[in-house]
Amino acid sequence: MRTDTPPTVRLEDYRPSDHLIDRVELDVRLDPHDTRVTARLAVRPNPAGRPGAPLILDGDDLRLLALDLDGQSLAPAAFRVAPSALTLPEPPQRPFTLTIETRLDPTANTKLMGLYRSNGVYCTQCEADGFRRITYFLDRPDVMSIYTTRIEAEEAAAPVLLGNGNPVEAGRIEGTGRHFAVWHDPHPKPAYLFALVGGRLDRVSSTFTTMDGRAVELAVYVEPGKGDRAAYALDAVERSMAWDERTFGRAYDLDVFNVVAVSDFNMGAMENKGLNIFNDKYVLASPDTATDADYAAIEAIIAHEYFHNWSGNRVTCRDWFQLCLKEGLTVFRDQEFSSDMRSRDVHRIGEVRTLRARQFPEDAGPLAHPVRPKRYAEINNFYTATVYEKGAEIVRMLRTLIGERAFRAGMDRYFAENDGTAATVEDFLRAFEAETGRDLSRFAEWYERPGTPRVAISGHYDAGAQTYSLELRQTRPGAGSDAPPVVIPIRLGLIGQDGPLDDARSSRVTDGVFVFDRWDDVLTIENVATAPVPSLFRGFSAPVRVDMAMDDTERLTLLRHDTDGFNRWEAAQRVAARLMIGALRGEATEVGADAFAAALDSFLDARALADPAFAALVLSLPSESDLADDIGSEIDPDAIHAARYDLRTRLGTALTDRLHALRDALSEPAGTPFSPDAASAGRRALRNAALDLIAAADPTGGAACADAQIHSAGNMTDRLAGLSTLALLPGETREAAFASFAERYADEPLVLDKWFAIQAMIPEDGTVERVRRLQEHPAFAMTNPNRVRALVGSFALANPTQFNRSDGAGFTLVADTVLALDRANPQIAARLMTAFGSWRRLEPVRRGMAESALRRILATPGLSRDVTDIAGRSLG
Ligand code: ARG
Ligand code: ZN
Repeated sequence: MRTDTPPTVRLEDYRPSDHLIDRVELDVRLDPHDTRVTARLAVRPNPAGRPGAPLILDGDDLRLLALDLDGQSLAPAAFRVAPSALTLPEPPQRPFTLTIETRLDPTANTKLMGLYRSNGVYCTQCEADGFRRITYFLDRPDVMSIYTTRIEAEEAAAPVLLGNGNPVEAGRIEGTGRHFAVWHDPHPKPAYLFALVGGRLDRVSSTFTTMDGRAVELAVYVEPGKGDRAAYALDAVERSMAWDERTFGRAYDLDVFNVVAVSDFNMGAMENKGLNIFNDKYVLASPDTATDADYAAIEAIIAHEYFHNWSGNRVTCRDWFQLCLKEGLTVFRDQEFSSDMRSRDVHRIGEVRTLRARQFPEDAGPLAHPVRPKRYAEINNFYTATVYEKGAEIVRMLRTLIGERAFRAGMDRYFAENDGTAATVEDFLRAFEAETGRDLSRFAEWYERPGTPRVAISGHYDAGAQTYSLELRQTRPGAGSDAPPVVIPIRLGLIGQDGPLDDARSSRVTDGVFVFDRWDDVLTIENVATAPVPSLFRGFSAPVRVDMAMDDTERLTLLRHDTDGFNRWEAAQRVAARLMIGALRGEATEVGADAFAAALDSFLDARALADPAFAALVLSLPSESDLADDIGSEIDPDAIHAARYDLRTRLGTALTDRLHALRDALSEPAGTPFSPDAASAGRRALRNAALDLIAAADPTGGAACADAQIHSAGNMTDRLAGLSTLALLPGETREAAFASFAERYADEPLVLDKWFAIQAMIPEDGTVERVRRLQEHPAFAMTNPNRVRALVGSFALANPTQFNRSDGAGFTLVADTVLALDRANPQIAARLMTAFGSWRRLEPVRRGMAESALRRILATPGLSRDVTDIAGRSLG
């Protein structure tokens, strides 16, 4: 079994660094296998540290070539060196300069952390702790330095050389074929925001004038020949800059802003100061290669990384426990941006679907952790839905509690008071306390403990008194027995048979929000003329699970009359979920599938063409994993799949005429130019949601329809929707469509990813074999994270019946992949493993199979810290 438990880092052990590094001068001579890095560090004792403490610089896999102090080479007795640390036991008790030369092999760097090569392009990824793979350093975010970087490379191999900050100087080194560029970043920053790029890249650019009148040169760099696919990303940069000025008064602060797209990248993108580096999946877009969802993701991630310039870079994190300080806040900011660019209700529904699909299960399983964790073994395993998405929900609740105006003022104060520093969650909350005079100490509990709170609610109407009262009770599963109640903002309203009951009043409801902050409470609303249906948690005002005794006819009243778009959608989802779960348990529900279909039919009649994007969401039933999350234990994914399939078939049958009519009404005349805007995307979404139900009701007709759409489609959204529909319908048409798609896009890696993913998600017995076969496909590569995520990630995270096969074959496939990947790229291996996060909620046979796969992984010698941590906690 395991012998080496990874050491744990604890929040309570934080103490300031004993040394600071004010300035860093880096000289990087790029070479495929023999890159030389010389770092000149201006070090001084930290007045807040321990006097006389040793200087211990972090390293990871480093080879030291030379070391000197104030220009004198150091005697061997004066330091100790290992790949993982460089120690000066008795450093000078005054400022001094340390010059360190290290040697790297960027081509051999398969972990994609530190300096590596992606398709021949030199690039870096330093968050969370990759800078220590470039040079020995105090690699912690509260050590902030001013960087000057000189980059040198062979000019033919790397004509483009980019660094953080502003360009200072560039030139050729005559007679060598090499050239150089010098970059200077005037803003002090932690090492995790360091970046450099060198390679052959195409550039598209524009100029942005900030609100204070400064011109900023914007550029997006992509693989040669792909410049025309960078226009949308560049446009998104401009819109992000303008939005942050307008919405938060935040302007950009350098002369240039560069975005570089690379094809091998561990995550989505990285907010390095002035030099954002992106997974090219979130930059490159053309109508023929990107779907509407891709365009939306590009817009959101471009915005996210740009917004970090203030929430993350100008104000950074004191330590990695504070990760949500930058990530939760920045997700909140990018969600607001996308909501302003698109339909707010539709976007909000998307946010909540993501939260429920990823964060709720995480919070209910063995990998649950507080939004601000208290300990970690491997920080890279804490870039989670909880830190990001639940972190964003906390910021949104804060705004709901204090109001928009005070929220904006508090944000201004937070930026002003913490600019140029490494801050904490407490610093963040303090800004809002100072602004509003409120005590937010109880609200801060949202950061402290894991688990999704549950709110049980029952309503009582008193016709004589014309009052309606809500009895509320909260519980906190998974938070521990000493957990206090949380502060839950409930945005609410009452709906009558013909619409909202606007005269209803309560002194405890302010601007539509009731603050529920005890274990139990009763809210009485007055002046309620008729028996109402309550519309609670409007806009999903708190990240909780709600148990409300309400019958389905009342929910259908909400679908018809609620003024809150989120709750209209939620009402239909709840009815659909009850129908499916009822069917799978053999229980009857008061509203049957036919009545639900009739309600959907009149909803579509009234609203589908007015708001197709919203209608598409109403037509999309809760996913299999949503249902699993609702059921909560003893999960049988096959039964869930069957119940969902059955309801799709019934709805498709009952609504056939309506769905065909909608498809006709929404079809675009041939030759209509593609536009990725939200309205056009919404029409495509509804047409394709209709196709899904049509095919469920009539597989033969549906297959023909999907196949025809694949051939006639003028864009990737429709072509891929056709292929996804066809993927559920076994037969020769499907296999032929897969083959011709692969041929057509053989030279398009990002499109091939979609092809791999669709096949990995087929809910059929043959899929495990198919995935194993595809792992041998010439286009598959374990070294490319996008490819691994597309094939094995989609299988593990988006194919519940096949991953959870009762014979264990799905678990074995994923475990084999994790082990094959671990040595080369432990971060991606660990990410894949999170698919096992809900194993304890399975029925016993599958649970046993999952457990043995986990035990096999954990028992493997030489496992990375990343995978050991996830496997250990999953079993723990
Ligand atoms: N800060 C990046 C972002 O904005 C993510 C970096 C993730 N790094 C990691 N090692 N997991 O989302
Ligand atoms: Zn981020």
